[in-house]
Amino acid sequence: MSEIVREIVVVGGGVIGLSVAWRLAVSHEVTVVDPAPARGASWVAGGMLAPVTESWPGEEALLDLGAASLDRWPEFAARLDVPLLTGGTVVAAVDAADAAQLDVLAEHLASLGRAVDRLTGRELREREPAAGPGVRSGLMVPGDLAVDNRELLRRLESAARRAGVRFDRRRALGVESGAVLLDGGVLETGTAVIAAGAWSAALHPALDTLVRPVKGEILRLRERAGALPLTRTLRALVESRPVYLVPRAGGEVVLGATQYEAGFDTEVTVGGVRDLLADAERVVPGIAEYGLTEAAAGLRAGSRDNLPLVGPLEPGVLVAAGHHRNGLLLAPITADAVYAMVAGEQPPAPARAADPARHVPTRR
Ligand code: GLY
Repeated sequence: MSEIVREIVVVGGGVIGLSVAWRLAVSHEVTVVDPAPARGASWVAGGMLAPVTESWPGEEALLDLGAASLDRWPEFAARLDVPLLTGGTVVAAVDAADAAQLDVLAEHLASLGRAVDRLTGRELREREPAAGPGVRSGLMVPGDLAVDNRELLRRLESAARRAGVRFDRRRALGVESGAVLLDGGVLETGTAVIAAGAWSAALHPALDTLVRPVKGEILRLRERAGALPLTRTLRALVESRPVYLVPRAGGEVVLGATQYEAGFDTEVTVGGVRDLLADAERVVPGIAEYGLTEAAAGLRAGSRDNLPLVGPLEPGVLVAAGHHRNGLLLAPITADAVYAMVAGEQPPAPARAADPARHVPTRR
């Protein structure tokens, strides 16, 4: 049976869907469809807001998009009253090949006018005393931020509810012009926004091969009496494997993350936990003294070119998905872009590179 619901239906209540819904609720009636809002990949995220340390040659459009979103983060966080970690990121290299990779990154960033400070192992340890003697060299990126992903999700969901967003706990089966098909009904809507992360591909034929799940496992650790605290975000390459440790208030640390193409598997594996702990201990030997409080896996929404897909698919259907490793970082600019598109305006310039029309024919 068809139900006339609201002007806008956002399918997906992770960080992207909630941010979009909260933004649109300023001037529209909005419903979020999600059986478990404020969970999914956003619940498992590390919380780094780090366009510079996630960047790589060939991904300049993603760096511009991330930098534009990072600029929006202080105001976004202030409006939600969620604290930001502002101590920047140190990036550590363990072996010679890791150091060479950091050199490539530093040179690439310098060529774009985004110079970062290069550090010897000793200089890095002065900035982050928890780093151990196995660190050979590194970089300091002062502008990166970090946020507690779970606190953010709680605040976003309540801000959206306060702004009038309604939540529908049914599962979405598909989206077409004017309708969202649910397990147990159809919502008629003026505009649908597909923001279901890795699950977006199943919701619209145009997304079929554009979004895929990329599994990531994280561990949550807790500092114990006598353990050396981590003072800022520490990323590292350990024999070319990336690892990161992000401190949270109260002595918690998020240690991430593995990266596998394993379909929709969300089981935490013994091998994933072993690799994360072994790599982290090479960089921060003191983590052996921490408590291990949680192991979890999430599914990033991978795209073909690591840029998200933000834009129209057909009249009345927009997508905001495929944010891969950068969902939290890109939430503010994605919300602004969708808001502009719904208003019939141009999205912010760096978001234009995320138009899905770069991959598939779309109808506007
Ligand atoms: N942004 C960190 C990750 O995807 O693991």
